[in-house]
Amino acid sequence: MLDTLEAIYQESLAALRDAASSAELEAWRQATLGRKGSVQLQTRRLGELPTEERPAFGRRVNEIKQALQQAYEEQAARLRAQDLEAQMASEAIDVTLPGRKPWRGRLHPATQTLRQIYRIWGDMGFQIYRSRDVETDEYNFELLNIPQHHPARDMWDTFHTTEPGVLLRTHTSPGQIRAMHEYYPEPIRLIVPGMCYRYEQQTARSEFQFNQVEGLAVGKNITLADLKGTLAEFARRMYGADRAIRFRANYFPFTEPSAEMDVYFGLETEYDRRLTKGTGWLEILGCGMVHPTVLRNGGYDPEIYSGFAFGMGPERIAMAKYGIEDIRYFWSNDLRFLEQF
Ligand code: DAH
Repeated sequence: MLDTLEAIYQESLAALRDAASSAELEAWRQATLGRKGSVQLQTRRLGELPTEERPAFGRRVNEIKQALQQAYEEQAARLRAQDLEAQMASEAIDVTLPGRKPWRGRLHPATQTLRQIYRIWGDMGFQIYRSRDVETDEYNFELLNIPQHHPARDMWDTFHTTEPGVLLRTHTSPGQIRAMHEYYPEPIRLIVPGMCYRYEQQTARSEFQFNQVEGLAVGKNITLADLKGTLAEFARRMYGADRAIRFRANYFPFTEPSAEMDVYFGLETEYDRRLTKGTGWLEILGCGMVHPTVLRNGGYDPEIYSGFAFGMGPERIAMAKYGIEDIRYFWSNDLRFLEQF
């Protein structure tokens, strides 16, 4: 019986060396050391031996069990190391491979220009005031001194909604009235940025949606000199200190007197000539002293208060700055255009 035991031992050792995977190893463990395994079965045969041989046989069985257990653990460790090596070989990273550049988003050119404008006006003490895109006829026109059927309405081709008297704002000027209603009787210095909408033919120079930045200053003793000085300072900060500007008289119903401000671009390049229609000058904003009727409609007594206002188009400003030929690029979402900024 001892011979059988020794034979089982040798066979088991040989089988263990053949176990090439953790599944085979586990099968070996059950078949050998498990509760019904070959070595365990030998222990049960102890009773078949004469009494005096039993202690020697029992001792030997235990020795073999321990030896096999240790051999099993060594083989398991070997297999684990082997698995790890195989895994590392198959999952190896080639660190010499050039990386892929992550896709980075960027700000829209109109947003970049808007932020530049916010910064300049912010530095000069103007706060940002947000007004609504969907307006009433009353705020967009009437309170700005443009009554029904007034010929000046032709200046703003309008998108009307199906709700009578409700429209998409054609300019940011209604924000002036809303701000005055909100802040009376405080002095006001703010800008109103936002999208405007006009029922217009789309061309290289006009879009049916575009941004405007409105400006409004209301207080006591505000004069035309304040208007000119403030806007000249804006132009200096936006375009550089040596850039020439000029004011031209104009008409807007909500200001009196009214003007437009031009910035000198020169006639050096073909683009400059086209941009300025051969004059060298580009109009960048409309402005004026707030009309007494508009002040009154905002709740401010024009005998006590005065103010100036202006409106500028950031897309126009960006076009001049970057040499953009066609305003329609701004909202057509063509990545070939957007990626250039
Ligand atoms: N709202 C005018 C427009 O859309 C621009 C404008 C001109 C705004 C003169 C003003 C201003 O505040 O004083 O054409």
